[in-house]
Amino acid sequence: MTSLSQRRYHITTFGCQMNKADSERMAGILEDMGFEWSEDPNNADLILYNTCSIRDNAEQKVYSYLGRQAKRKHEKADLTLIVAGCVAQQEGETLLRRVPELDLVMGPQHANRLKELLESVFDGNQVVATDAVHIIEDITKPRRDSEVTAWVNVIYGCNERCTYCVVPNVRGIEQSRTPEAIRTEIEELGRQGYKEITLLGQNIDAYGRDLPGATPEGRHLNTLTDLLYYVHDVPGIERFRFATSHPRYFTERLIKACAELPKVCEHFHIPFQSGDNELLKAMSRGYTQEKYRRIIDTIRRYMPDASISADAIVGFPGETETQFENTLKLVEDIGFDLLNTAAYSPRPGTPAALWTNQLSEEVKSDRLQRLNHLVNIKAYERSQRYFGRIEEVLVEDQNLKDKTQVMGRTSGNRLTFFAGDINELKGQLVKVKITEIRAFSLTGEPIEVRQAVSV
Ligand code: SAH
Ligand code: SF4
Ligand code: F3S
Repeated sequence: MTSLSQRRYHITTFGCQMNKADSERMAGILEDMGFEWSEDPNNADLILYNTCSIRDNAEQKVYSYLGRQAKRKHEKADLTLIVAGCVAQQEGETLLRRVPELDLVMGPQHANRLKELLESVFDGNQVVATDAVHIIEDITKPRRDSEVTAWVNVIYGCNERCTYCVVPNVRGIEQSRTPEAIRTEIEELGRQGYKEITLLGQNIDAYGRDLPGATPEGRHLNTLTDLLYYVHDVPGIERFRFATSHPRYFTERLIKACAELPKVCEHFHIPFQSGDNELLKAMSRGYTQEKYRRIIDTIRRYMPDASISADAIVGFPGETETQFENTLKLVEDIGFDLLNTAAYSPRPGTPAALWTNQLSEEVKSDRLQRLNHLVNIKAYERSQRYFGRIEEVLVEDQNLKDKTQVMGRTSGNRLTFFAGDINELKGQLVKVKITEIRAFSLTGEPIEVRQAVSV
């Protein structure tokens, strides 16, 4: 008998948290259809690549994975091959010409429609779903990777037009979910025993701009700040995070709310991209480095210990040595807890890719190395404040490198290891005395387990 219930699926996810969240929902849909998870793609009957197009190397990785499975399909004709995510949206039908073995090419806005699209594939069609659509509410239970922390999308898409970035092209315009739908999802997660929620959006502080000003009862729930107040008391949830913030929309009201609401973690991910005003202008970021510094100052005024992380790009077209040094200076002055750095990669369909003042790969990789060197030094300096301190850690998992230890994160998002049994501690908040520090992680000794206050 070859019923659907015996078919196995595998998903490989590239890219950001948005893609990871989409993959979890698509996995939920596949399991609902009777598919079983296969860790090994070579044992799977259905393979889905959820792809990223942010830089060229991310895109190229997809083609090499895909090539291998396309070959396998010649021996296993009933293999179903799917490309989802941002490369699918960017390339659309071109992907079918490049890899004719593909069954389904689907953009990120279609993730929740996977079942319907697959039914068409099983009827014998080759399907491309890349038209702009209203994202339907998910009705399936996602298959989440963690049992402790969960992502909840609050806004899809991006209305910015940063001159280097493919995201607006591949993710479409902003679409906010309603506060009610978001709260309902979080309440369900609370019931299932999840402890930490990360609210997700490419540009999360733009949340609600596309929603009506008030709900029928007259409550104003149309900003991220309002949303935080609205979901903060969901039973069982102990921590909230949100990402990614855009400096253009980051308000003092939001900062105040984070300081006031005890469950909102003191960690802010606010990419600055460059420390030079002319470059920020060329990037169309809509703020100056002075404004960025003021935001960080305000955060530190309300929450002196808050950890700050960001993204930065080096080697943007036309970047001079002096302009690059302005980025170094910003990193030196602010002292980030973590900084994701990247060399500029020209992307199809973006304005900056067409400019003639591109820098050489040598200059870009030299600047990247110099920036990374400074980032490590500063992160190590930032870690020192934890030494000898007692930090609360939410235990997520075993330390894979040392099974006598468990791992979790502090409120400031530092990865922390300590001795303990995962079966007893998973999902617990443990007070840990920090005894060892590294640039991006800590080790400590458990002091006591906090009994959860809310049930
Ligand atoms: N919405 C977020 C970032 C989304 S993309 C924001 O506005 O900050 C994640 C990161 O990838 C960006 O912050 C940027 O640092 C990097 N990135 C985007 N396009 C890039 C490109 N063409 N080359 C190199 N890095 C890029
Ligand atoms: Fe890309 Fe800019 Fe939108 Fe971020 S805000 S996703 S960098 S266009
Ligand atoms: Fe990549 Fe798409 Fe995210 S391009 S970074 S997976 S939005």
